[in-house]
Amino acid sequence: MRTQVGIVGAGPAGLVLAHLLHLEGIESVVVEARSRQYVEERVRAGVLEQGTVDLLIETGVGERLKRESLLHHGIELSFDGRRHRIDLTGLTGGRSITVYAQHEIIKDLIQARLESGGRILFDAAGAAVHGLDGPSPEIRFRQDGEPRTLDCDFIAGCDGSHGICRPSIPDGVLTVYERIYPFAWLGILADAPPSSEELIYTHHERGFALFSMRSPKVTRLYLQCAPDEDIGNWPDARIWEELHARLSTRDGWTPTQGPIFQKGITGMHSMVAEPMQFGSLFLAGDAAHIVPPTGAKGLNLAVADVRVLARALAEYYASGRRGLLDRYSETCLRRVWKVQRFSWWMTSLLHRFDGDNGFDRRRQLAELDYVTSSRAAAAALAENYAGLPMD
Ligand code: APR
Ligand code: PHB
Repeated sequence: MRTQVGIVGAGPAGLVLAHLLHLEGIESVVVEARSRQYVEERVRAGVLEQGTVDLLIETGVGERLKRESLLHHGIELSFDGRRHRIDLTGLTGGRSITVYAQHEIIKDLIQARLESGGRILFDAAGAAVHGLDGPSPEIRFRQDGEPRTLDCDFIAGCDGSHGICRPSIPDGVLTVYERIYPFAWLGILADAPPSSEELIYTHHERGFALFSMRSPKVTRLYLQCAPDEDIGNWPDARIWEELHARLSTRDGWTPTQGPIFQKGITGMHSMVAEPMQFGSLFLAGDAAHIVPPTGAKGLNLAVADVRVLARALAEYYASGRRGLLDRYSETCLRRVWKVQRFSWWMTSLLHRFDGDNGFDRRRQLAELDYVTSSRAAAAALAENYAGLPMD
């Protein structure tokens, strides 16, 4: 089998890349370890920056998103029992965020690719990349037990944080910068109409909590918990009790309860691998960098990367020039580091750190007070949250 760009991974990075390349007339094949059903049902993030939404709509995969998503013009920060609104739209000159589940985007992208004759090979086992520093890179894998080889001009490593592409780069090439946070998030989905129209990020002495949503009928809620928390220790009643303790405000607001139909634990980790390229392999999305979920940036960063990569590949195939390809890593990393900084800052601002003393907690509260009372500080949060320019 042969193609121009071999893509490992059918997450947001791989599928958006395949779609953008198709619009540029460039052929690709996506090689995905999991089944179609698995990737279409995997529960992940759900907050889209304005730039991500614009890109999906402008490139023709935003029809269902336009109909079914929820447009938000602000978020709330809650501390000391009071909520404070950050007017994202007012503070950014008209930008907003959109709530639409990642797996719904995945469904829309898969459908669009398959309808236009695109190739996505699901259930591809044991993928491995070869010949990265030579003229003919290839992806080897097995399908239905049969060994297969995909010859390519370039390989896009879009296989997420536990994929095989980043570890295939020879030792000594990459520098990996990391921070592991001493806590995790316990997340639930509940059949309950959201009792707030906007997301609420809560700082509480018992730990961080987040009120979010997926639709007018489904609430998404998170609690800061221990990094090695056993979900078995969290029966539904305990989860609700803890959510009420952290989220309820002095004015009597509290999240509406409903049957919990999904729960899980998410680790908190910051990581950047530099450079995002080796030979003909280009890393994009979680394969190259991970952010803690506090700023809701993972999906948006993945889309920003592949936008840069698609343009660079389009220039190469149109003119033979490698300028944009050679600058791919540098171009992405400038934005990646700013988004890392923001995600780290939101995480530090809102969570309870066990070693913190009274001074640290008062400093955190002073910062929350500042961010919610100074227009300049709120504007800095808003421009980052709604999304920095794509390039
Ligand atoms: N072979 C083939 N596919 C693989 C392999 C492999 N060895 N390893 C992983 N994959 C697939 C995964 O099954 C997944 O479908 O790669 C895909 C990676 O997708 P994501 O993890 O969603 O990563 P990315 O596309 O970079 O999107 C980043 O997704 O879940 C979020 O928090 C994350 O929001 C961020 C965004
Ligand atoms: C979510 O709805 O899953 C969500 C929202 C905001 C975040 C993280 C996750 O910061």
